[in-house]
Amino acid sequence: MENILSIKNLSVELRDRTLVKNISFNIDEGDVVLLSGANGMGKSTILKSILRLETEGKRISGEVINHSFGNILTLNATDLQRYRAGIAYIQQKDEYAEMGNIQVRDIISEIREAHAGRRLSYSEVNDLIDEWIPRRSDGSRVFDAKSKPAKFSGGEQRLLSVLSVIATRPQAELMIIDEPLNNLDFINARNISNLINKVVKENPKMAVLMISHCRIFPFITREIKLSSDGISEVAEPYVCHSCFGEPDENGFYIQ
Ligand SMILES: Nc1ncnc2c1ncn2[C@@H]1O[C@H](COP(=O)(O)OP(=O)(O)OP(=O)(O)O)[C@@H](O)[C@H]1O
Ligand SMILES: [Mg+2]
Repeated sequence: MENILSIKNLSVELRDRTLVKNISFNIDEGDVVLLSGANGMGKSTILKSILRLETEGKRISGEVINHSFGNILTLNATDLQRYRAGIAYIQQKDEYAEMGNIQVRDIISEIREAHAGRRLSYSEVNDLIDEWIPRRSDGSRVFDAKSKPAKFSGGEQRLLSVLSVIATRPQAELMIIDEPLNNLDFINARNISNLINKVVKENPKMAVLMISHCRIFPFITREIKLSSDGISEVAEPYVCHSCFGEPDENGFYIQ
């Protein structure tokens, strides 16, 4: 399998503080990697460094090598944008609270438009929601194209963040997901697990790098653990799903 990303001796310093120290790991095509580690250890900082986001005030050293672009820490702005376009990124924080009258359709359309050049109609957005998120037991959608995310609960916001990236970017070569299950109840956590697994199964060459404190995902192929000693490969990652029911032989939970 071809290498997608190779992180070599990555360190991140902010003023006089070291956030990440000298870590190295590889991600190949088809890898579905869980990045584990305690709160505040530097996991999100690693993901942001891979994308070269939120770099103000930081000193980032080492190399983040992508097979097409080389070391992304030295890329110019145009190539950096092209590199990022191949990555579907779901950040840890949801940022919908200040969005006023903006609708779900605007958010999904905007991401889709940036990558496919076309806005979606209300009914297309509702079809997308129906394709990816099962309706509630009473037949209603968790949200629809006209819903306003500024008024969403924490879990609804998280669901929208994951949906808006995954459903609009299913062909990215690398998916980077920072804690997809925050605030989600069991049913929606299961839905998100299935939704990520669907993308993985439909795109066997895609690589996924995902942070999660919850070990529900049956389709993880590797776990790397970040500790104060650096990154280590976990020999036998375990899945813990007793609250969620049993997955089938393809790693999908039955709804
Ligand atoms: N921009 C910043 N300014 C100051 N401190 C920061 C900044 N970004 C990260 N940190 C600090 O760096 C450390 C690592 O943060 P990071 O968000 O990477 O942790 P994490 O492993 O993702 O934790 P969690 O599991 O809680 O999400 C934390 O102590 C955090 O306070
Ligand atoms: Mg984090």
